[in-house]
Amino acid sequence: MKREIIWNEAFSVGVKILDQQHQKILDELNKLYSTFDTTSEKEDLAIILNNLIDYASQHFSTEEGLLEKYKYHDLITQRSEHSLYQQKINGFMQRFEAEGHAVVLETIGFLADWWMGHIQGCDKEYSRFLNNNGVF
Ligand SMILES: [Fe+2]
Repeated sequence: MKREIIWNEAFSVGVKILDQQHQKILDELNKLYSTFDTTSEKEDLAIILNNLIDYASQHFSTEEGLLEKYKYHDLITQRSEHSLYQQKINGFMQRFEAEGHAVVLETIGFLADWWMGHIQGCDKEYSRFLNNNGVF
């Protein structure tokens, strides 16, 4: 598995605040990788997992807020991907409560795939739309 995801221009969705939020999430995910490698302290991992949950929900509300404001035609796809993500992560958190460290690697795999796929897929599709509305 890839151990680190470095944000680069290829991940840009063309809107500064959203790029910054994506970077913050990927940084935290990298922190989860390295902490997983160096500690088995459940509490250390729990802090990072909870940060990831907070950052993601802040990000989803910023993103959905902008798309709603400008009446983006495919807001429904964004909302449903975001809510599926939240269901998945809730499931991982329940398992983490019970199994701890053992479930973290699988969680990292899910998070890495999901964020890379979502940013480069669904999110990239609104770039031009928001830019055309004067949002950069
Ligand atoms: Fe999104």
